Amino acid sequence: MKKIMLVFGTRPEAIKMCPLALECAGRQELTTVVCVTGQHTQMLWPALDYFGVAPAYDLAVMKDEQTLADITAAVLLKLTPVLAAEKPDLVLVHGDTTTALAAALAAFYRQIPVGHVEAGLRTYDLAAPYPEEFNRRGVGILARYHFAPTEWAAGNLLREGAAPERVFVTGNTVIDAIRTTLREDYSHPELDWAAGGKLILVTAHRRENIGRPMEGMFAAIRRLAEDFPAVRVIYPIHKNPQVRRIAERYLRDNERIRLIEPLEVFDFHNFLRRCYIILTDSGGLQEEASAARKPVLLMRDGTERPEGIEAGIVRLVGGDQERIYGEVARLLTDPAAYASMITGKNPFGDGFAAKRIADILVGLKD
Ligand code: UD1
Ligand code: UDP
Repeated sequence: MKKIMLVFGTRPEAIKMCPLALECAGRQELTTVVCVTGQHTQMLWPALDYFGVAPAYDLAVMKDEQTLADITAAVLLKLTPVLAAEKPDLVLVHGDTTTALAAALAAFYRQIPVGHVEAGLRTYDLAAPYPEEFNRRGVGILARYHFAPTEWAAGNLLREGAAPERVFVTGNTVIDAIRTTLREDYSHPELDWAAGGKLILVTAHRRENIGRPMEGMFAAIRRLAEDFPAVRVIYPIHKNPQVRRIAERYLRDNERIRLIEPLEVFDFHNFLRRCYIILTDSGGLQEEASAARKPVLLMRDGTERPEGIEAGIVRLVGGDQERIYGEVARLLTDPAAYASMITGKNPFGDGFAAKRIADILVGLKD
C-alpha cells in the first residue's frame, strides 16, 4: 500500500487539497497522512473543519509579521523529522506558496518523490506574483509528478522539459470544492445589508501590491462607493496586518463599505455566487469566479491563469487607481459589457480533479 503525505499550510491550499485528501483517504490502495505547516492559523483551520480533514501533524510555524525566510526555515526544519518518522512513498504539495516550496525541498533532501498539484502555472515574471512565481517553478524542478489543472499549464511543463509520462491534466480541485459549497437557499446578514444594491466583493493580499499599489486600489474602491449610490462593497480582509492597516486607512467609515473578518469558505463561495463583480488580486478567485459565472476585475498586470481571460470572465485592470475606477464604473453602467464577460465556459475543471489525481496515484508504478 502506498503512503501519500499531503503537506499544505495556507487557506487556499487547504480549500484545494482537502477534496484530494478526502478522496485519497477513501482509497483502499492508499494510506493518507495530512501534515499542515500552519503557515496560516486563523485562515487555515476553518477550511479544515469545514471539509472534515483532521491533520496528523501541525508544524505550527506561523508567527506575527513572518518573513519568507522564517516560513521557509521553519518548514524545512520541522517537516524533516516528520518525513523521517512517516517515510511516505510520495509527498504531495500544492501550487506556489512558501509552504509548497519548503515542503518539496524537505522531501527532496530526504529523496522522497514529490507530486505537484496545480502544477505548470506561469507568468514567467519572478516579480509578479512574488515570490510565488519562483516557488512554483522551484517545485516544478523537484517534482516527479505534475498534476496540471489545464492543457495550457501542462504545455508549459512540457516546454520546460518535464517528462510527458509524468504530466497529467486533471482539472483544478477548487472546482471540486465549490461543487460542495453553493446553496440556493443561502442567506447571511451581510448579504441582507447589500440586498437591492450591486455588490462588489473585494479581496487583496499580494505581497507585491502591499504599499503604494494597494493604496491606489483602495482609493479607487472608496471613490466608487462614494460616486455610485447602488454600490455595496464587502471586503473580508486578509489577516495580514500590513494589508489591514491600509484597508483601515482607506475604507473605514463609509456607509456603503463593509470591512469584515475572513469568511469561512462555505460563506465566501455563497457570497461569490451572489455578488455583482469580484475585484481582487487573488489567484484562486479567478477559478472560482469562472465556476460561479461572475466577472472578475483582476488588480494585477498579468496572470498565471490566462484561461480565465480567454474565456472572458477575467479582465486585467492593473493597480492604477484611475483604471480600476473606470473599469468597475463601466461594468456598473454598461449591461452589454457586463453580459459579455459571463458568456464563456469554465476552463478550470469539471469538479472531478481529485478523483482523477487519486486514480493516477493508485496506478503509479515508479
Ligand atoms: C500566502 C502565500 C500566497 C497565498 C496566500 C493566501 C506565500 C509566499 N504566499 O501569502 O501565495 O496567496 O498565502 O492567503 O506563501 N496571518 C495571520 N493569520 C492567518 C494568516 C496570516 O495572522 O491566518 C498573518 C501572518 O502572520 C503574516 C501575514 O498574515 O504575517 C502574511 O501571511 P503569509 O503566510 O506570510 O503570506 P500571505 O500573504 O498570506
Ligand atoms: N476565501 C475564503 N474566505 C475569504 C476570502 C477567500 O475562504 O474571506 C477563499 C476563496 O474562496 C479561495 C481562497 O480563499 O478559495 C483564495 O485565497 P487567497 O486569495 O488568500 O489566495 P490565492 O488564491 O491568491 O493564493
